Amino acid sequence: MTAPAALHLGRADTRRGSLILVNRDHPLNSELVPDLVPLPGGWPDLHLDRDAARMLGAAIRAAGGAGQILPVSAWRSMAEQKSIWADTLVRRGPDFTARYVARPGCSEHQTGLAVDLALAADVIDAICPDFPDEGVCAAFRRLAPRYGFIQRYTESKRELTGIAAEPWHFRYVGTPHALLLHREGLCLEEYPAFLDGGPRTLVLENGRRVRVSRLPCRAAVTELRPAGPCWQLSGDNAGGFILTEWEV
Ligand code: DAL
Ligand code: ZN
Repeated sequence: MTAPAALHLGRADTRRGSLILVNRDHPLNSELVPDLVPLPGGWPDLHLDRDAARMLGAAIRAAGGAGQILPVSAWRSMAEQKSIWADTLVRRGPDFTARYVARPGCSEHQTGLAVDLALAADVIDAICPDFPDEGVCAAFRRLAPRYGFIQRYTESKRELTGIAAEPWHFRYVGTPHALLLHREGLCLEEYPAFLDGGPRTLVLENGRRVRVSRLPCRAAVTELRPAGPCWQLSGDNAGGFILTEWEV
């Protein structure tokens, strides 16, 4: 990709991209149209963002989990999230629902960037699938950041995320960001403020350096100028843009 002289970004651009924060305080942009593909490997009814689907397959294979790690829930439409919310409320009550189901419009499953995984079993809980910290599941969890995934909900960040620990729920953010979040022990809610501390640099396993910076959106049009030809831009759904630049 050749670096353009400058990018001109509107406010709507803060609300799309692989780094958008979606939670109770940051609802999904209702006009978002995810770039979805069916999950490869015999899951034609489950859809995920194109890059996330490819990297999920690679991560499962790398963990030796093919046939043992099963996707249970991937992209959800608004109607599906509403139905899951209402059904869980009736079957399992308000406390359980508040802990484990995001309100419709506030679920990152609606972005196509989140997936729930289970260890293969005869009976799988659709809301809280078993994804233990051992065997292939532990191997997947360890490798996940290298493939761009974070375990999104942990007990230590519960106050910030508003959701209880979900060892089965993985969110695709892309490799440099997953590695950076993992290295710093941050959840996605903490990422914008972390990046506001200044551009961050990560050295990938192959020695290549990646620079991550955030620019708040303060005007109707924000001008941004990547330094080189290899970059990626995402909104953060928290009033800013995150620029990722790979050293060439
Ligand atoms: N289980 C997660 C929080 C969701 O419903 O999006
Ligand atoms: Zn989930």
